Amino acid sequence: MTVTRRTILGGAFAFAFAASGSVFAAKPLVMGFSQVGAESEWRSANTASIKDAAKQAGVTLKFADAQQKQENQVKAIRSFIAQRVDVIAFSPVVETGWETVLREAKAARIPVILTDRAVKVADKSLYVTLIGSDFVEEGRRAGKWLADYAAKSNKPVLNVVELQGTVGSAPALDRKAGFEEAIKGNAKLKVIRTQTGEFTRAKGKEVMEAFLKAHGKDINVLYAHNDDMAIGAIQAIEEAGLKPGKDIIIVSIDGVKGAFQAMIAGKLNVSVECSPLLGPQLMQAAQDVVAGKPVAPRIVTEERVFPAEVAAKELPNRKY
Ligand code: AHR
Repeated sequence: MTVTRRTILGGAFAFAFAASGSVFAAKPLVMGFSQVGAESEWRSANTASIKDAAKQAGVTLKFADAQQKQENQVKAIRSFIAQRVDVIAFSPVVETGWETVLREAKAARIPVILTDRAVKVADKSLYVTLIGSDFVEEGRRAGKWLADYAAKSNKPVLNVVELQGTVGSAPALDRKAGFEEAIKGNAKLKVIRTQTGEFTRAKGKEVMEAFLKAHGKDINVLYAHNDDMAIGAIQAIEEAGLKPGKDIIIVSIDGVKGAFQAMIAGKLNVSVECSPLLGPQLMQAAQDVVAGKPVAPRIVTEERVFPAEVAAKELPNRKY
């Protein structure tokens, strides 16, 4: 007769035990993972990190790409529940609207791990942990860099335009809040326009074109919630006959290789790091939770700020 107890021995393998206690079958841990999409260089690196780490850890990964749609994530999670996976992990596209499906996972006794983005739920027992960055702090770091820059500038006021991430997503909300906190009361910094660029290059370019059409040379600074939107905006700025990184100072977030290349070319001024390399921590947390070991409710990624001056030296060390 098969006993339902699971344990972890030397890695990701869940072993089923016979009532006698002897091992008769080795069963890899099965994880269902619902990814946001493939909207950015960051996201591709995050997907690669999760797939590689699963392989390394011997975890069977059922991977679903939600194409930036919450309804696709809900469907994927329901399908993981129906398949009775050992663990469900996902990076929620937006913060709200998860209670029902998370309650379904809980009722099925399948632990849920959040990676990268947070959810807003009253009942914190609906998920085990959130592994990822402190987005408010990233926004603060971007704002602090800009406040330091403004203090040295001889212009009395710098007009800032902001490209926000996906509406309702944790990084868009938190990076906006952290940035605002850092520049609050700063008479030299004035945010004149803010709009979503959906974390993509194409939309970043399109919205920057509209900003330029409306405000032209009055724009002094672009704050982009990710590097991809900044890179799209750089194209728009060049096409408008202006010099990105000089006529318009650009502050962005992620620290992807594309941003380092733009910094080396003098077109981007600073990128605040947000690490997508969450795969190894995710696999470890999944193994621990299935083994019944305690897992911290919040696992925060360590990150740095990379101004353009260090880009050439740092690029060879970048992993994404
Ligand atoms: O949730 C992390 C954010 O999502 C990254 O900053 C961005 O590039 C991605 O699309």
